[in-house]
Amino acid sequence: MRTLVVYYSLEGNTRFIAETIARSINGDILELKPEKDVPSKGFLKFILGGKQAVFKERPKLKNLEKNIEDYDVIFLGSPVWAGTFAPAFNTLFSKMKIENKKVALFGCYGGQSGKIFENFKKYLTKSTVVGEIGFKDPLKNDKELNENRVEKWTKNIVNKLQS
Ligand SMILES: Cc1cc2nc3c(=O)[nH]c(=O)nc-3n(C[C@H](O)[C@H](O)[C@H](O)COP(=O)(O)O)c2cc1C
Repeated sequence: MRTLVVYYSLEGNTRFIAETIARSINGDILELKPEKDVPSKGFLKFILGGKQAVFKERPKLKNLEKNIEDYDVIFLGSPVWAGTFAPAFNTLFSKMKIENKKVALFGCYGGQSGKIFENFKKYLTKSTVVGEIGFKDPLKNDKELNENRVEKWTKNIVNKLQS
């Protein structure tokens, strides 16, 4: 079973969860990197990033270093931006279809997870969603506890898929 963790992160929370998932199951990892991202500090990120999310913009991404097609199980993770996934995923979904995969979803948020999982699932109708989990700013709120929580969740999913 080949496993890939695909994520976008502006401020490191989703990266932390993504790297923990990949490490705990020895999976590969793919970061979605816009060629020109919004600033990661200051208030401007909310205005520019919020606008991109609301208008479903598709920022141009740097070349993807892994081919999603080569994997059976995909973990997809994003911060919540304006109640949904980050715009880098609009670009990904416009370029490729994720079909016939087992997909597990994770999201990081500051307040509430909004519609991130519901909206992800709109693009995954031909795959099977096998789990979803949310984290409230995990780098700021008990990092170790979140690390344990995501490790357990990940191993549980993979064990079930293997049995
Ligand atoms: C542009 C932007 C929009 C955001 N919108 C929301 C939101 O709608 N709801 C929420 O709970 N948090 C929102 N946040 C907070 C992030 O989802 C949260 O801090 C997350 O943990 C950041 O993940 P990251 O460090 O991987 O970028 C927003 C952050 C940014 C930059």
